[in-house]
Amino acid sequence: MTTHSIMILPGDGIGPEIMVQVRRIMMWVEKTHKVTFAVSEGLIGGCSYEENGVPLTDETLATARMSDAIIMGCVGGPRWDGKTDYDKRPEAGLLRLRKELDLFANLRPAICFDALADASSLKRELVSGLDILFVRELAGGVYFGEPRGIENLPGGGRVGINTQRYTDAEIIRIARVAFEMARKRSGRVHSAEKANVMEAGLLWREEVTKLHAAEYSDVKLEHILADNCAMQLVKAPKQFDVILTDNLFGDILSDAAAMLTGSLGMLPSASLGDDGPGLYEPVHGSAPDIAGQGIANPIAAILSFAMALRYSLDMGSAADQIEAAVADVLARGLRTGDLMSEGMQLVNTADMGNGILSALEN
Ligand code: IPM
Ligand code: MG
Repeated sequence: MTTHSIMILPGDGIGPEIMVQVRRIMMWVEKTHKVTFAVSEGLIGGCSYEENGVPLTDETLATARMSDAIIMGCVGGPRWDGKTDYDKRPEAGLLRLRKELDLFANLRPAICFDALADASSLKRELVSGLDILFVRELAGGVYFGEPRGIENLPGGGRVGINTQRYTDAEIIRIARVAFEMARKRSGRVHSAEKANVMEAGLLWREEVTKLHAAEYSDVKLEHILADNCAMQLVKAPKQFDVILTDNLFGDILSDAAAMLTGSLGMLPSASLGDDGPGLYEPVHGSAPDIAGQGIANPIAAILSFAMALRYSLDMGSAADQIEAAVADVLARGLRTGDLMSEGMQLVNTADMGNGILSALEN
């Protein structure tokens, strides 16, 4: 019997309620795959700040570092919106976790389940069969670049400063992930930056081009300006296979792509480093407007757990089963509010969990 240590960080808002459903799926995997999950739970985000005065404690970080995989909910909420000390904000807990574990490779698959093609804000023919993989750089760029801050100007007034900064090594290691992923898919990479206005973007383009020529010329590489990429995503999204991009553009473009799949409530993600545990979290936020009502969509969190099985725990077949169960439940017409359309069956968070479990059991 294999034992995997899993750290669960439910976080804020709808995090705790969607994580309850993940726990149920975990129990099903234990029951059916001869595996035990040794689970520890911790606080991250606003809830940790309230309890400990910081959005992520050293102890929680240490436990996370020792585990085989970290499954997170989401962080943030209106209660902390006014916080101006950035290192105390809920998001800072997540950013610290990503940075300290050097989780530089963020994989965000944007897949349109056939049953949801009509829930997308785009026409069915544009999104049906959509399968894009975002490879977002996650441990560098403007999220972490120095100098940063808000300063008073000598002559009066203030200036806000953030720095977009990428070394060649940081660009090469994330580009390598994108090319490797593309080889397992349809062999195409679009690399998105703003080489037309930013030196960091120009270096990005040069380094990606060099790596491609040296080691990955079997993959088809196209460079695309990030703004054009945004436009193409809503114009003809199926032209994309793997989209390689930096931390900030990846944040923005992946949210846009999420809507192509029907709802932000559908997108899972994996954040990986060279070694150590991966971090698995839904792309959506903490949805404070519906938190505590038991109506949130647990699918992105459940699919994130499936990614943990695949990428950290070497249990790809269990991941396949979970993904198939999600497709099955959607095909049967079950919909949480974010996915709801006419003629479908509106269900709450627990019912969606029930549906997925019963699909797994059959
Ligand atoms: C995401 C989120 C985070 C980000 C926030 C919560 C810090 O939007 O994972 O996309 O900006 O990276
Ligand atoms: Mg985001």
